[in-house]
Amino acid sequence: MDNILSGIKPTGQLTLGNYIGAIKNFVKVQNEGESFLFIADLHALTLPIEPETLKNNSRDIAAYYLAAGLDPNRANIFLQSDVPSHSELAIILQNYLYMGELSRMTQFKDKSSKMKEEAIGLGLFAYPVLMAADIVLYDSKRIPVGEDQVQHVELARDLVKRFNNRYGEVLVMPKAEIAKVGARIMSLSDPTKKMSKSDPKGDIYLNDSLEAIRKKIMSAVTDMVGKVHYDVSNQPGISNLMTIMSSLSGKTFEQIEKEFEGKGYGDFKRAVADTVVAELTPFKQRYEEIIKSGLVDEVLQRGASRANQIASKTLLRVQKAVGLYHK
Ligand code: TYM
Repeated sequence: MDNILSGIKPTGQLTLGNYIGAIKNFVKVQNEGESFLFIADLHALTLPIEPETLKNNSRDIAAYYLAAGLDPNRANIFLQSDVPSHSELAIILQNYLYMGELSRMTQFKDKSSKMKEEAIGLGLFAYPVLMAADIVLYDSKRIPVGEDQVQHVELARDLVKRFNNRYGEVLVMPKAEIAKVGARIMSLSDPTKKMSKSDPKGDIYLNDSLEAIRKKIMSAVTDMVGKVHYDVSNQPGISNLMTIMSSLSGKTFEQIEKEFEGKGYGDFKRAVADTVVAELTPFKQRYEEIIKSGLVDEVLQRGASRANQIASKTLLRVQKAVGLYHK
């Protein structure tokens, strides 16, 4: 069984996009191999963030993982910063990725486009290097992510090819896995844009109240067509709501179209809101219980201990391969 790895960056409140595009898939695959599901806290430092916010967001992601159904006896849940091999390996791997390819990364271009060059941190530019280190450390072949992270995983694949060509079969080749439906949930206020962690109107946050979630869905941008039909180019808003409904209920697009034939957008939106609320109600309850229980610290500690075991072996293999003296 192949190892599985993925992570989430604790930069802001998690969205329904993170939940559908990532967390739900983590839960699905957790029994299919040893999984390493971490909180990418070092990555969160690539843009300014308050220490307390980073700390609370990190704890929340661990609690959300558990609330969504990750089993800490099967999945290794840990903080990236609790496993020093991530940073050590990144220092080595940065020599095998190049300025040109890093500057072509969409995420870097998006995040840096509004910044003055003097203000762009080196960490933001080198983000994919650390991410490549994350990916290769656990010999994982399977990397479940949303669509926006595929380019980074592809870069990690290029790196593995390059590194192994030079030093032999040292690193395992990873591959991005994206969900058939829901790999790119769009903003409710502008359905041509991805739902991100920074657009309060268009995002559904996992910590929004159920009422606020309903309201946001009821006021989601739609179109003038007046028909519940999956057509991303002409009906991006409706298609996005259909995607949300389909990925949470398991209904196909055809089933949804049939169910709402001849009905108005109001009815459809209410049903989408019901689906989301039905999914998030028990999830939010479990989250509250987990936060109160103190389970998070115990889980993170256990996860880090196992992660360190595996990661330090890979790091040593790389150190030996490149000829670091005495290794
Ligand atoms: P991050 O924190 O931006 O997002 C976490 C996961 O959620 C997915 N996602 C979405 N999926 C569907 N629709 C959306 N609107 C949406 N928004 C986000 C992302 O694709 C991702 O899977 N660089 C990563 C964190 C990371 C990582 C790694 C991931 C660090 N090291 C190694 C995999 C492997 C990030 O910023 O994800």
